[in-house]
Amino acid sequence: MKIVAFGASNSKKSINKALAAHAASLVEEAQVEVLDLNDFEIPMFSEDKETEIGQPKLAQNFLAKLESASAIVVSFAEHNGSYAVAYKNLLDWTSRVKREVFQHKPVVFLATSPGPGGAANVLHTAVTSAPFFGAEVRGSLSIPDFYDNFDMARGELNNLAMKQQLTDTMNKLF
Ligand SMILES: Cc1cc2nc3c(=O)[nH]c(=O)nc-3n(C[C@H](O)[C@H](O)[C@H](O)COP(=O)(O)O)c2cc1C
Repeated sequence: MKIVAFGASNSKKSINKALAAHAASLVEEAQVEVLDLNDFEIPMFSEDKETEIGQPKLAQNFLAKLESASAIVVSFAEHNGSYAVAYKNLLDWTSRVKREVFQHKPVVFLATSPGPGGAANVLHTAVTSAPFFGAEVRGSLSIPDFYDNFDMARGELNNLAMKQQLTDTMNKLF
C-alpha cells in the first residue's frame, strides 16, 4: 500500500507539502512518497509551446509517480482564490498526456493557509473538478489558521481535534 503525497505548491517551505506529508504519515503501514513540485518544473503551458516541445518527460514522470500509488493525497495552496501556478501548469501539461491525471486512484484532497479561510476556495475547485481528472475523492478537509494549529518543527498538527478529523479523513482512503 503506497501513498503518494504532495503539496500543490512550489514553495520551498510549503505548508501544504508539510500538511500532505503529515496526513500520509497518519495511515499506519503505508509506504509514503512525498513529491516536490520543484522536481516537475516545466515551461509555462501554451498550445504553441506544446507544438514546439511535445509532451515533456517531466509530465510523463509525474503521471508515472501517480500511477505507482495505491492512493494519493494532495494539499492545495490557494493563490488569489485559485490554484498556485506551479500546480496548474503541471496539471495542464499532464492532462494533455492523460486527461484522467489521477487515474481513478482514491484521493484525499486537503488545503491550508495561514488565514481563517484555510484555502477552502481552491479546495472546492479541486473537489468539484475531480471526476473530470479521474480522481476518486474519498475525503476532503481544509485546515484554517495553519500556524496556530500545526507545529512545523515536529511536522504535525498540534490541534488534537483537527488531527483526529484528519485521521478520520485519511482512514476513508482504504
Ligand atoms: C500571490 C498570493 C496569493 C495568495 N492568495 C491567497 C488566497 O486567495 N487565499 C488564501 O487563503 N491565502 C492566499 N495566499 C497566502 C497563501 O495561503 C500562503 O502563502 C501559503 O503559505 C501558500 O501555501 P504554500 O506554503 O503551500 O505554498 C496567497 C499568497 C500569495 C503569494
